[in-house]
Amino acid sequence: MDGIIGKGKSWKVPADFGKQLLEWAKTLDRPLPWREEKDPYKIWLSEIILQQTRADQAVPYYNRFIHEFKDVHALAKSPIEKVLKLWEGLGYYNRAHNLHKAARLVSETMGGIFPKSLEGLMALPGVGAYTGAAIASFAYDLAHPVIDGNVIRVISRLAGIQEEVGQREVALEINHLARELLGQTLPSAYNQAIMDFGATWCTPKNPKCLACPFNSKCQALNLGLVDKIPVKGKKKPLRHRYFLFLLIRYEAKIWIMKRGGQDIWRGLHSLPYIEMESVPSGEGVASVEQFLTPLALGRYTKARLYAEVKPQTLTHQRIHGYFTEIWFEENPKLSADWYAIELENYSNFAFPKLIKDFLSDVTLRN
Ligand code: ADE
Repeated sequence: MDGIIGKGKSWKVPADFGKQLLEWAKTLDRPLPWREEKDPYKIWLSEIILQQTRADQAVPYYNRFIHEFKDVHALAKSPIEKVLKLWEGLGYYNRAHNLHKAARLVSETMGGIFPKSLEGLMALPGVGAYTGAAIASFAYDLAHPVIDGNVIRVISRLAGIQEEVGQREVALEINHLARELLGQTLPSAYNQAIMDFGATWCTPKNPKCLACPFNSKCQALNLGLVDKIPVKGKKKPLRHRYFLFLLIRYEAKIWIMKRGGQDIWRGLHSLPYIEMESVPSGEGVASVEQFLTPLALGRYTKARLYAEVKPQTLTHQRIHGYFTEIWFEENPKLSADWYAIELENYSNFAFPKLIKDFLSDVTLRN
């Protein structure tokens, strides 16, 4: 080891780690379409998609967006509905709203030129410190280290940090170490390499320590604490939410609605739904009649309750979805906010993934 860096506490990382990491990166075979990209528009787009999304899942979405919107002006001019439709299934739809807002800002007030500083980038909706550092380094080679869960894991393991990484003092020190490591290298290459290393080698579970080029220098490994580091604080308990979605059917029609407000699914379409306190209790349809009866939808001939679909876990909530299919003999009496579409045309609208998957199953069965 040539030397070590790190001040204050006894946390240190090998001084040549940054350079060695670039050597490691040369051996990695992980082709991604935004790699080596220098166009700030494409980098920004990829980084927004990559927030809360794995790279393999992000690739087809990225390709579709680039194909559909060649530049920031094209994206800015698009109706939000089209952006949401392209985003369908990716989740955290706030990102799609911010993407559109930022595109309009850049297109309409900046002549289509993305800001060239970290501060300027962070003033765009949806761009925080992490995404800002990624864009600034990839597009302009500015020396801003990316710091996210992957990077925190790599540095805290390497330095053997046994304190909670969420604490301010610890976070500041990790930030300091990250800055020093980046300073020895080309920022774009270093940031890409540490992201890749965290995502593919120094993973939360089953990291590849045996084959790791840094294993002799990794404090966590030497201390037998790879499973324990990074030390995380208590997680906020998940809020469980239970939704009963209604597939209201009359002839070839079903009814849908557009979600508004500040909802996580705002701007997307939905089947009409009822939020319940907990799972529908009791047997079959009888258990949902308590919810259906007050709606006074009219007389239905047949109804069916499906088993709970796979719950969706978001950062702080878990969504439990139940679907009931209700057939009417005459036009049902429905809220003015709900409107009829032909079931077979459902894919013209953007729905949250669990509803889209359900409608896809129903149409396949019909
Ligand atoms: N996650 C966030 N940004 C990324 C990138 N540029 N490459 C791979 N994974 C990422």
